[in-house]
Amino acid sequence: MKKSLQYLIDKKRAGAPITVVTAYDYPTAKVLDEAGIDVILVGDSLGTNCLGYASEREVTIYDMIHHATAVRRAVENSFIIVDMPYGSVDTIDGALFNAKMLTDCGADCVKVEGWGEKSETVKSLRANGFTVCAHVGYNPQTHDKPKVFGKDEYQAAELMDGAELLSYAGAELIVLEMVPAELAGRLSVSLPIPTIGIGSGNRCDGQVLVVNDLLGLSQKIYKHARPFADFREAMYEAFKDYIDAVKSREFPGEENSW
Ligand code: KIV
Repeated sequence: MKKSLQYLIDKKRAGAPITVVTAYDYPTAKVLDEAGIDVILVGDSLGTNCLGYASEREVTIYDMIHHATAVRRAVENSFIIVDMPYGSVDTIDGALFNAKMLTDCGADCVKVEGWGEKSETVKSLRANGFTVCAHVGYNPQTHDKPKVFGKDEYQAAELMDGAELLSYAGAELIVLEMVPAELAGRLSVSLPIPTIGIGSGNRCDGQVLVVNDLLGLSQKIYKHARPFADFREAMYEAFKDYIDAVKSREFPGEENSW
């Protein structure tokens, strides 16, 4: 059965962790959906993990539409969040227009990066019927380098105020990225909406990982991530075996031929 926002809220209330993974294509989304993931995030990490861009800032609304549509075709049960890419929420009219394109191609919810300064945007999106996920802490679209946000008291207060403002403005989910575990735990208790952590400790209401990091496809192992498989090695070995089999004329075999 298709998972709803209410299903995620009920999980928060029951203290049951919400599971989230990014996906950018049909086959990955299909397997994730079959495995029972709660939420698939078509993140703008698409740019660096799938399209070979140098930064999330190169990702366009058309990239997001193309990949969100592929994910949508695969999914039967999971809730789908799609990122609003860099520049797509610069004006309220632009945000509404772009959010409509993303929901038309299958997003159940759109994600907007930014702290309290994005509360007016979130308010307008919500007022126009969109379900919005906020994203505070490290924001790859605007912050130059990954770092932990909210370490000192002043920044922790700014982050908490921002998160409260976004929730008050109508955000119904919130991603906490690279927030100290203790602060993320406090926010998860104080906010009425589900928190989804990445690099923010295990007291968040849910966890998200980038699929390339989870599968061991990324070149680098990040502190916040754990590879649950070694797909890079497995792909490399499979490609080598295929090349050798073709070169030696061992493939195709009789069983593959007419
Ligand atoms: O784009 C993305 O993958 C994200 C997650 C890191 C939360 O926004």
